[in-house]
Amino acid sequence: MKILVTGGAGYIGSHTCIELIAAGHDVVVVDNLCNASEEALKRVGAICGQDIDFIEADIRDFNALDEVFSNHAVDAVIHFAGLKAVGESTRIPLAYYDNNVNGSRVLLSVMEKHKVNTLVFSSSATVYGDPASVPIREDFPLSATNPYGQTKLVVEQMCRETVAANPDLSIVLLRYFNPVGAHASGQIGEDPKGIPNNLMPFIAQVAVGKREYLSVFGDDYNTPDGTGVRDYIHVVDLAQGHVAAIEKSHGKAGCHTYNLGTGQGYSVLDMVKAFAQASGKEIPYKIVARRPGDIGQCYADPTLAKENLNWAAKKSLQEMVEDTWRWQSNNPQGYSS
Ligand code: NAD
Ligand code: UD1
Repeated sequence: MKILVTGGAGYIGSHTCIELIAAGHDVVVVDNLCNASEEALKRVGAICGQDIDFIEADIRDFNALDEVFSNHAVDAVIHFAGLKAVGESTRIPLAYYDNNVNGSRVLLSVMEKHKVNTLVFSSSATVYGDPASVPIREDFPLSATNPYGQTKLVVEQMCRETVAANPDLSIVLLRYFNPVGAHASGQIGEDPKGIPNNLMPFIAQVAVGKREYLSVFGDDYNTPDGTGVRDYIHVVDLAQGHVAAIEKSHGKAGCHTYNLGTGQGYSVLDMVKAFAQASGKEIPYKIVARRPGDIGQCYADPTLAKENLNWAAKKSLQEMVEDTWRWQSNNPQGYSS
C-alpha cells in the first residue's frame, strides 16, 4: 500500500515509517516540522536504504493536502500530526483545537474528496481520565481533564460520526499508553524541545548530565512503592501496532478502537532503577509534591488488539531503557548533536 503518514518526522511517526517500509509499504510523509527535524527523516532513509518522500506542509492547509493526494496514489493514511504537551494545552487551548481538531477535520475532508477510505488515528490513554480500576479496557468511560485530552476525545467522536455517515470508511482509533525507547540503531529517538514533560526523556537527560536530578512527583499514591505506575511501551512495538492496524482494517469498513499497551505497569522508581542499570550512571532524584492532574496508576488491558489485530507488544523494560540510552548517549543534543 501507499501510506500517507502525517507527522511522520516526529517521534512515533519516524519509527512507524521504518516498520511500514520493512513490511513492504510505500510511505509519503507530510509534516510542518513544528516539533520535528528533517534530519530524522534523513536518518530513517539511511536505515531503510531509500529516500523518504517528504512534503513540508501543514495539515490544516486544504490546498496543500489536496495537492499531495492529487500527486500520490494514497491508499491509506496514518495520522500522527498534532500538538501533544498537556501543560501547554492549558495555556494555549485554541492552538490545540486548531491543530488537533481542525487539522483532523481538514484531513478527513481531503480524504473524502479523493475517496481514500482508510485512516489510523493517534489517540491516547489520556481519554480514560482517572480510571476507576486497572487494567483499562476500551469500553471504560471516557473523560478529559485538560484541552489536549479533550481534543483527542473530539477527534475520536468526529471519526465515529464520519464513519456512521459514510459506510465505506474504515477508521482505527489507537489509544497509546506511554511510548518510550528508540530504534535499536541509536539513530532516531525522542527529541523533546526544552525541558521534557515526560518521565523517560527526563531520566535520559539526567543520565547524560544535561539535568542535575529527577523530581519524582509524589510517593504517596496507592501503588507498591507509592510512586505513579504507568504502562510503558517500546516505540517500535507501537509502530508495529500501526502496521497491523492498517493492514487489518484496509478495505473493511467501520470504526474500531484499540489500546496499544503492554498490560504491565512500572513505577517511577522502577524506571529510575532500570535506567541506572542500563546506563551505568547514577540517576539522582528528589521526591517532590504530586503533579496536578496526575493519576496513581494507568495500564492497559491489551487483549482486544491481540485478538483482532494479532498484535502484542514484545519488547522488555530492559530493551526500552537500553535503546533510550543508546539514542541519548549517541545524540546528547538530539538531532542537533
Ligand atoms: P511528535 O511531536 O514527535 O510528532 C508529531 C508530529 O506532527 C511532529 O513531527 C510535528 O512537527 C507534526 N505536526 C504537528 N502539527 C502539525 C500540523 N498542523 N501539520 C503538519 N504536521 C504537524 O509527537 P509523537 O510523540 O510522535 O506523537 C504523535 C501522535 O501521537 C500525536 O498525535 C500525539 O498526540 C499522539 N500521542 C503521543 C503520545 C506520546 O507520549 N508520545 C501518547 C499518546 C498519543
Ligand atoms: C502524560 C500526559 C498524558 C499523555 C502521556 C503520554 C500529563 C499530566 N499527562 O502522562 O496526557 O497521554 O503523558 O504522552 O502530562 N514523573 C515524574 N517526574 C517527571 C516526569 C514524570 O515523577 O519529571 C512521573 C509522573 O508523575 C507519572 C510518570 O512519571 O507517574 C509518567 O509521567 P509522564 O511520562 O509525564 O506520563 P503520564 O503522566 O502518564
